[in-house]
Amino acid sequence: MAVQTKLATILFLTSIFYGHEVSTDSDVGLNTVEMIEKHGYVCENHDITTEDGYILTFQRIPHGKNNDNSTKRPAVLLMHGLISSSADYVNMGPNISLGYILADIGYDVWLGNARGNAWSRNHTTLDIETDAEKFFDFSWHEIGYYDLAAAIDYILGVNGDDSLYYIGHSQGTTSFMVLASTRPEYNSKIKVASLMGPASFMDHQRTTLLVVLSKYVNELEKMIKKYKIYEIPFLEQIRKFASDFCSNADNIEICEDVIGLIGGEDKPQFDFEKFPVILTNAPSNAALKQFLHYAQLIQNGGFSQYDFGKDKNNEIYGTDTPPAYDLSKISAPVAVYYGKNDQLVPYLDAQTVIKKLGNVANDYLVPYDLFDHLDFLFAKDVVNMLYLELLKVMQNY
Ligand SMILES: *[C@@H]1O[C@H](CO)[C@@H](O)[C@H](O)[C@H]1NC(C)=O
Ligand SMILES: *[C@@H]1O[C@H](CO)[C@@H](O)[C@H](O)[C@H]1NC(C)=O
Ligand SMILES: *[C@@H]1O[C@H](CO)[C@@H](O)[C@H](O)[C@H]1NC(C)=O
Repeated sequence: MAVQTKLATILFLTSIFYGHEVSTDSDVGLNTVEMIEKHGYVCENHDITTEDGYILTFQRIPHGKNNDNSTKRPAVLLMHGLISSSADYVNMGPNISLGYILADIGYDVWLGNARGNAWSRNHTTLDIETDAEKFFDFSWHEIGYYDLAAAIDYILGVNGDDSLYYIGHSQGTTSFMVLASTRPEYNSKIKVASLMGPASFMDHQRTTLLVVLSKYVNELEKMIKKYKIYEIPFLEQIRKFASDFCSNADNIEICEDVIGLIGGEDKPQFDFEKFPVILTNAPSNAALKQFLHYAQLIQNGGFSQYDFGKDKNNEIYGTDTPPAYDLSKISAPVAVYYGKNDQLVPYLDAQTVIKKLGNVANDYLVPYDLFDHLDFLFAKDVVNMLYLELLKVMQNY
């Protein structure tokens, strides 16, 4: 109920305040490339084609602001979460966001964009509009199995090294675990994977909206077929509306409350001047199946492949229920970072996945009790609370 009330309040108040823009942050309104270039860094777009025909556009920051590209740099791939994009890793600007920090301390930085998001909406044979049903027939399973595999091979081809560093947030951790468990040959191409908010086991999930949604996952699937909704709807409208609304200082409290509904509440660490910057590019587009697959995990327990129902499961997997991802196949070193106040990836579920991983490079509960799901990217003090630790561990590999 609280959610609906707050959303209704927002809709009402927008009609009054619409149009007042007060945020002065100069990154408002810019996409990933424009932000990076504005801050004086080189940014390249790279098109990567997957085995199943999706054309993904990744951004690369080949070197730091004040250094050239003559020295050989280790590659690092950063992968965003659900309904998000490469902007996650540059939104907070230089000295805070990982994209810039990694470039400045000597890495060849690659910012991923999963199939279907704002950057990755082309395909070698499918048209995103006329073939929408086929185009959006994927979950984070395919993002891990195809997108990450193609990206890693492409990046290593350009960089020249035979392995790279991986960093993922939320769905970016899920897709990594999919890849490394279903295509174990990719483990040797990973120096160390840093997983921030490892979304996999959902036994302690209490986020009201997700839990309710998961109860109706079968009905939702039928509706999607009936109404031909393949992509998560209204994201662009939500983005435009929220970035206008939350640019107005008078509305900050409401925006704070709504943010709190997503993944936890940590007002002391959230920089509300940055809110309109974040909302310029998020939420980004995604397939409804990505949501449904997470909802299935809440409903069914465990960390398993997509559940198509008994008949189709038998056809595809040869079993009534979908197979669990076998995390013991992940041999690459994996460092896990998690927050005490993360409502989307509760710390008890993070500890479950750590127990199943064979090669744990770091088990790090961020030492700050309010640390929530968005703090991994946007906390004011994220460098001191998390990134120094994460970078130190990377340097051991
Ligand atoms: C360095 O940058 C220049 C100009 O952007 C480019 O032509 C060259 O290929 C780059 N070299 C390497 C090793 O990436
Ligand atoms: C980042 O830190 C450097 C060195 O302290 C400083 O010169 C620069 O202005 C900072 N950049 C931003 C955008 O805050
Ligand atoms: C989509 O990809 C095809 C190649 O398969 C290319 O010819 C076309 O220009 C691309 N469209 C856009 C909008 O980039």
